[in-house]
Formats: sequence, structure tokens, C-alpha cells
Amino acid sequence: MCGIVGYIGARSALPILVDGIKSLEYRGYDSAGLALVTAQGVWSQRAVGRVINLEAKIGENRPESTLGLCHTRWATHGGVTEANAHPHTDCKRNIWLCHNGIIENFKELKDELKKTGHTFRSETDTEVIAHLIEEIRNKDNGLPFEEAVRVALMRLKGTYGIVALDRRDPKKLVAARNFSPLLLGLGKGEYIVASDASAVLKHTRDVVYLQDGDMAVLTPSSHTISDLKNNPRERTSIALDWSPEEAKKDGYPHFMLKEIFAQPEAIENSIRGRLIPKDGLAKLGGLAGMEEKLRVARRIIITACGTAYLAGRVGEYLFEEYASMPTRIDLASELRYRKPIFQEGDVMLVLSQSGETADTLAALAEAKQKGVLTLGIVNAVGSSIARETDAGVYQHIGPEIGVASTKAFTSQVAILALMTMLLGRSRDMSVVTGARIADDLQSIPNLIRKILQQSAHIKTIAKKYQKTKNFLYLGRKYNYPVALEGALKLKEISYAHAEGYSAGEMKHGPIAMIDKNFPSICVAPSDSVYEKNISNIQEVKARGGPVIAIATEGDKEIAELADDVIFIPPVREMLSPLLTVIPLQLFAYHFGVLRGHDVDKPRNLAKSVTVE
Ligand code: AGP
Repeated sequence: MCGIVGYIGARSALPILVDGIKSLEYRGYDSAGLALVTAQGVWSQRAVGRVINLEAKIGENRPESTLGLCHTRWATHGGVTEANAHPHTDCKRNIWLCHNGIIENFKELKDELKKTGHTFRSETDTEVIAHLIEEIRNKDNGLPFEEAVRVALMRLKGTYGIVALDRRDPKKLVAARNFSPLLLGLGKGEYIVASDASAVLKHTRDVVYLQDGDMAVLTPSSHTISDLKNNPRERTSIALDWSPEEAKKDGYPHFMLKEIFAQPEAIENSIRGRLIPKDGLAKLGGLAGMEEKLRVARRIIITACGTAYLAGRVGEYLFEEYASMPTRIDLASELRYRKPIFQEGDVMLVLSQSGETADTLAALAEAKQKGVLTLGIVNAVGSSIARETDAGVYQHIGPEIGVASTKAFTSQVAILALMTMLLGRSRDMSVVTGARIADDLQSIPNLIRKILQQSAHIKTIAKKYQKTKNFLYLGRKYNYPVALEGALKLKEISYAHAEGYSAGEMKHGPIAMIDKNFPSICVAPSDSVYEKNISNIQEVKARGGPVIAIATEGDKEIAELADDVIFIPPVREMLSPLLTVIPLQLFAYHFGVLRGHDVDKPRNLAKSVTVE
């Protein structure tokens, strides 16, 4: 996720900006840059890699300035290059800005601006904004800078957190937010604009969080906040009592909890601009040109590791049921050593949050070696897997910092649902079905928000079973992978023994383990296999086993049967993993914390397993 810091005031901007951007390094990035307004013009430096590379380029010649911007880039459009690093500027190098987010209509705006003579220096969507403001000021040079920014922002489709300046207005800094967080640090005779509070706490604890649609105009002594139609918006400041470390977690005790709670926005970011609900279609720019190959594919082989593999298991059900596509799911660490029989028309789909997992890379290489078309669903832009696959879809969820994967799982399942629509609608899925899936997918973030409100209830259940050493997780069909994922989460962060199992398989062995000290967590929403799940719950209860059920709101039968129930809202079966996994993530989180573990950095684990 990009990091932004802007400064306007009476002090030297440079050290405040660099120090601030260092506080944002934890967000993950691949390049950095800054721009300072000086008496001689704008002084700018950019560097690929870490902030220390930028500091090396700044060197000793540290110009005096009281107005500037600084940025760490998490690439979305355009490779990791100095030219693509922010800040970006216009033709005449008057307007400079940094941006976090995705401008969906940047290509049409860029073409429009090129026609009026603008020349571009980068591949980014961000640079278009600087030229758009320039074009607006060219047409009406009496227009104040902030008004030109306002007009430009109204042309944008997509998300932004932006801070901008015009060297011809050296007493002004403009900040605006639409989905990408941005706050104002209120200092004495100065303001620090930043992506999160960790970059401002050294200077002030008084902050104003901008809301979507806000635009702030800052001078060293004042600020105003309004909407894009210049209607004033009241935003009260709050006094933060966080440490810088807590600020990085947005006040959450752990990154894992922050990321569990970030899943509604993560899914919104993963599906944003990728649905055409009225036509029941999904559009995935990263797969442009692959549609026909996918439509006629003989089989899709999904492969990944860990949680990504379990998201892929959901994809197997989706592709078969809703795209009538023969699909096989394989652990990458197994596929790479087997003798997989690839045939004409096979397509491999790899999933990876980090894009650097060794086993997944090896399985990918094996498929490429055999001439198989390879696609990816990856979060880390420009990562090895993103580069090695023939095409792919980025998750756009920002870095996942907690070692135990949470938002990456739901994002991958959401993107698999988009791919299912893309595939299905090119084969035998009707527009009605496609449209219904699109509508249901768009409702998922708010349904997750509803489940997240049960965190305290789930913590109570975790406390009740705090001393338990063994758990069985049971699920069927779309929720069989969820049972496996729930068990993996518990193992990873609490080190307890948790076994995920197909509920239908329970009577073929695991039921022998069940007794009063061996609870079962049953994922049993109201779906096509509900009755079967009820039978499993009865079998467990008959043997004295406690049952924690994940069930659909209003299900009285399970409420009577199970010892504890966590309810989820009703949801279409194919999308139910996006909801049923949330209680399991929260249960594992609270259970791990109650056991006194560092849930962000569990023992023996790495965030990205780049070794075999
Ligand atoms: C999941 O919680 C684990 N951190 C781990 O299983 C992870 O999902 C796996 O290593 C795959 O990582 P990737 O998505 O970056 O390829």
C-alpha cells in the first residue's frame, strides 16, 4: 500500500518528510520519492527500492523548503522504475502530487490529454492527475489551484488519497480522499498530511481523518475541508494517545486483527471496477486477450500453497458448478514432484499473496516447461509469480503483514468468483445468474461488517475452550476448504492441534477421536448440504463431543443442537466461504491471544515461504 506524507509550515520540510515516510515503510513498497518547493523552483528526487536509496540520492545537498511531498509506491500501474515513482508532475513541472489508489479511467483521460499536447514521463495512472490539473489551469489560468484540483478530481473514477501542490502557490497544499485513507496532523503553524498517524505522532497528536469525498486546502496557518462541490464539511480533530507502533496498526492490538477487520474494504478493492452487474459480467483487465483461450479450455489446474491453496479449493467448486469447467486443484508442493499429465487446452491458475512462494513458483515453472497457459491471482505487484505467469489478476489489497493470511484469502475467493463469472458467461451461465452473482458479490463487504460485530461474542467462545488441546473442523462442499482454512488458522497462531476434515468423511475415522474433550467446529450454513451437516452434528453430540456451529441467522435447529453458535447472514452458497471464514479467523485470533502468543509473528513461520 502506498505511503504519503505532505508538509506545509515554517520548519524545514525535508527531514519531516523523510522521517515520516520511514514510519510508513511497514506498509510495503518498491520505490520512493519526494518534491520540495524551493526559492529556485521544485527540487525532486526519486529512487527504486528502500527509502535509504532515496536518502543516498538526496545526499548532502539538502535544499531549504517549507513545502513538500514524499511517497512510497506500491506499484499498481507500471513497473518498479524511478520514472514511475511518485511524486508526479505536469508538462511544465509546476504541479506535483502523490497518490494512493487506482484511477480506473486513467487511460481515457491520458488519451484525451495527449490529444491536447501533453507528454507523459511514466506509465502510471497517477501522472494523469497532474496533467489534468494543468490542462484545467491552462484553460482558465485565473482559477485558483485548489479549484483546478477540485474540477480534476470530479473527472476521476476510482480511488485516491492525494496530496498536491503548485509551485506557483507556495503557501498552499491540497489533500483529498476517496477510499484511500488520509489524515491531517494539526501542528502549531504547520500541517502534516499522511496516510496514517504513524507519520505524524512525533510532531502532533491532534489529527483530522479525512472522509471519502473530502478535499482539504491547507496554508501554514489554516485549513478548510469541503466536498468536491465546495460545500464545507465539518471534521473535528481527535487527540490520539497511540504509540507509533499502535498507529501502524490503526489502533488494533495486532496487524492480524486489523487485517481481519479490513476485509470488507479489501474485497471492495479486489472487485472494484471489475463488475458489470446489469449484464452479469466480470471484466478482468489482466486477462484481456485470454478470454477465448479460457472459454475453450479443456481443464483448469489450480495450484498454490497454504491458505492460497485453500482459496483455490473454493475455486474448484466454483468453476465446476458455475462455469461447467473441468477443474483440478493441487498442492504446488505435490504437483511439482508428481508427473502431472498436461494436455492440449489445459490452463494453470496459480494463487499467491506474496508472489514469491518457492513451491508455487516451481509448479508454475513445470507447467510453463510443458507449454501450458499460466494465469495468476497475486497480491504483490511485480512479484516473481506475477512476472512469470502469462497473465493474471492483482488483488489490490495492500500488503498483508500478519503472517497468518486473512484478507488475502477472502480477496482471492472474491476474484475466483469474478473469474467464474467471466468463464461462465462465455460458456453456459445466463445473464440472470451472472447478474444475481454480481449483486450478491457486491453485498458481501457489508455482510462481513455485520459478522465482525460479533468479535466479542466469538472471543467469549474462544475463552470457554481456552484450555482445549484438540479441535476437529468440519465442512462440506464450498465450506470444506473453509473448515481446512479454519483449522490452519488455529494451528498457525495458537499451536493447538486442529484438524480440518470433510464432514462426510468424519465417520470414516476421525469420529473415533470425539469425546467431551475434543470439540468440533462445524461449518453448517443453510446450503445444499445443510441436512447432511445436521446429521454430522448429531453424530458428534451423540458421542459427547461439544459442537461450535457456524450457522445462518435464524437457524433454530442448530441453536438447540450445538453448544455454541456463531451466526452469519444468509448468503448464496457459492459465496458463503467469504462469510463462514470470518468467525473462524476471529476464533483463531482470540484463541491465540488468550494463549499469550505473538499472533502477528507465530513461531517457526515466515510470511512468504521462499525456500523449499
Ligand atoms: C497462511 O496463513 C500461511 N501464512 C501460509 O500458508 C501461506 O498462505 C502460504 O505460505 C502461501 O503464501 P502465498 O499466498 O504468499 O503464496
